Amino acid sequence: MLNSRKFMRPLLAVGSVFALLAGSYAVMGQSGPATPEATQSEATIPFAIPQSGPFNAADVEVKNSQAITDWFRSAHADAASESFRHWDEEEEINAACATCHSGEGFRDFHGLDGTEAGVVNGPINTGGVVDCGTCHNAGLADVTEIEFPSGLMHPVQGVEASCMTCHQGRTAGADVVKAVADFDLDTPNSALRFINPHYATAAATWLGGYGGAGYHYDGKDYSGRFFHARPVASCNSCHEPHTLEVAFEPCLTCHQANDPQSIRISRQSYDGSGDTSKGIRADIQANAEMLLNMIRAYSADVAEVPIIYDGTRYPYFFADANGDGAIDQSAEGSVTYKSWTPRSLRAAYNWKLVTADPGNYAHNPHYMLELLYDSIEDLSTPLGRDMDTLGLLR
Ligand code: HEC
Ligand code: HEC
Ligand code: HEC
Ligand code: HEC
Ligand code: HEC
Repeated sequence: MLNSRKFMRPLLAVGSVFALLAGSYAVMGQSGPATPEATQSEATIPFAIPQSGPFNAADVEVKNSQAITDWFRSAHADAASESFRHWDEEEEINAACATCHSGEGFRDFHGLDGTEAGVVNGPINTGGVVDCGTCHNAGLADVTEIEFPSGLMHPVQGVEASCMTCHQGRTAGADVVKAVADFDLDTPNSALRFINPHYATAAATWLGGYGGAGYHYDGKDYSGRFFHARPVASCNSCHEPHTLEVAFEPCLTCHQANDPQSIRISRQSYDGSGDTSKGIRADIQANAEMLLNMIRAYSADVAEVPIIYDGTRYPYFFADANGDGAIDQSAEGSVTYKSWTPRSLRAAYNWKLVTADPGNYAHNPHYMLELLYDSIEDLSTPLGRDMDTLGLLR
């Protein structure tokens, strides 16, 4: 798959999915854009409909059928998911959300629709998905850097411009720094609200400390982008761009394991278990669980309002002021947690950032472990826990 230069041919004008494919697209792999001459000559052939009938539909070659079938089953094409239905009632996707929640918004943002780049001019229709023209778009070759929420401008090549635009999350550690500035570290402050890094934040994880997604504690150094190894150094080298799945066999060139989740190279145990036979993912999971438990303990003992996490409901953290183990209810429904201190807010932010990426262990295990360790260490002081006895490694 790597380094191939292929061109999409004009498609048969049949079936609803083909409506998405009007025009011709230059397919860009990592080797960059397709040559313009070829794109033009192919673009002049409008349809592949045979000159005369009668003919059998089964004899007509549908050139992109495999790609379409693969894509159609993927999350990118799932028009029924919350990711694409959330704006149905408004009947229009607002500019702040459209870039990542529809192909039309994405093209608008990057100026691929002829409008100004770097801003969604809108209005953007609901009902769109991550369609073919999101990634197969000749104009994408001119997008040479992507801005991250931290302000970082990261250089990109070819189709990676697309993945990096939408999978970067919506916040940076700097947003947390700004929110907690000047407030007393351990005093609950009702002006503080949970800061949600958003979802499927793979690109943010991948760029590590350099991307600036996490809250970075003073005096600590953070691992940068996870370079991994050459054959697996881009999103599409692991993810088939249409199914989005990760093939496991190629991993076995360099790793010995039964599945991606049990891959491990580190000879040290990070979670204090001493067990180095399990995948590095298990260490990350264990430390994330420990951190969530410490956020709970800190909220109850130091902030003095117990907290409940419910992953199914925004904004995820709710109050349990009477400590009965159930979310407090008011006339408006569940009571959002409002007793954050700077210390608990930054830890909860890091926890959510790590857990918002199900592929975190493959995208950047080092950065994940550092954010978790530092957050746990920070909470251990007011809780009077001894880091040494926890046995964690950074
Ligand atoms: C998320 C981005 C993305 C979307 C959406 C997407 N593609 Fe692709 N497609 C790619 C990438 C990247 C490649 C190049 C793979 C390579 O270089 O090996 C590719 C390659 C192709 C190829 C060349 C053959 C192959 O499979 O490698 C065809 C044909 C194709 N896409 C058609 C489509 C069609 C039709 C759609 C919509 C139904 C679509 N693609 C949607 C990213 C995408
Ligand atoms: C930088 C890109 C980006 C922006 C901007 C963005 N989102 Fe998302 N959002 C995503 C991605 C990627 C997902 C997919 C997560 C997944 O795999 O389910 C997502 C998922 C969601 C979901 C589904 C969550 C779930 O639990 O399934 C909702 C709701 C959502 N976003 C709302 C919004 C709203 C509202 C805005 C604007 C205020 C917005 N998003 C802006 C990238 C973005
Ligand atoms: C226009 C924004 C956009 C672009 C471009 C984009 N994605 Fe996505 N991606 C999304 C959204 C939104 C979802 C969640 C869709 C859903 O919930 O059905 C998603 C889902 C995924 C998933 C599956 C997550 C799951 O919940 O199953 C993977 C893997 C993924 N994308 C990888 C990629 C890769 C690799 C690229 C680049 C080749 C890419 N995406 C380009 C917006 C985008
Ligand atoms: C080293 C291989 C590798 C690379 C490189 C890689 N990923 Fe992943 N990715 C994975 C693995 C493994 C998973 C976890 C899959 C699973 O558990 O099903 C994953 C999971 C994901 C998910 C969540 C899927 C889900 O089920 O919710 C998204 C989204 C994603 N990756 C996007 C990206 C993007 C965008 C890039 C480039 C910035 C990227 N990945 C680079 C291997 C990789
Ligand atoms: C060409 C060799 C190569 C391939 C192919 C490869 N990896 Fe790796 N992988 C490495 C190297 C080298 C490291 C150590 C990198 C480092 O820590 O800087 C590593 C580290 C990892 C780690 C972290 C392990 C730990 O204990 O820190 C995970 C997880 C991982 N790879 C997953 C994958 C997955 C999933 C695939 C297949 C999609 C894959 N790798 C394919 C070479 C490879």
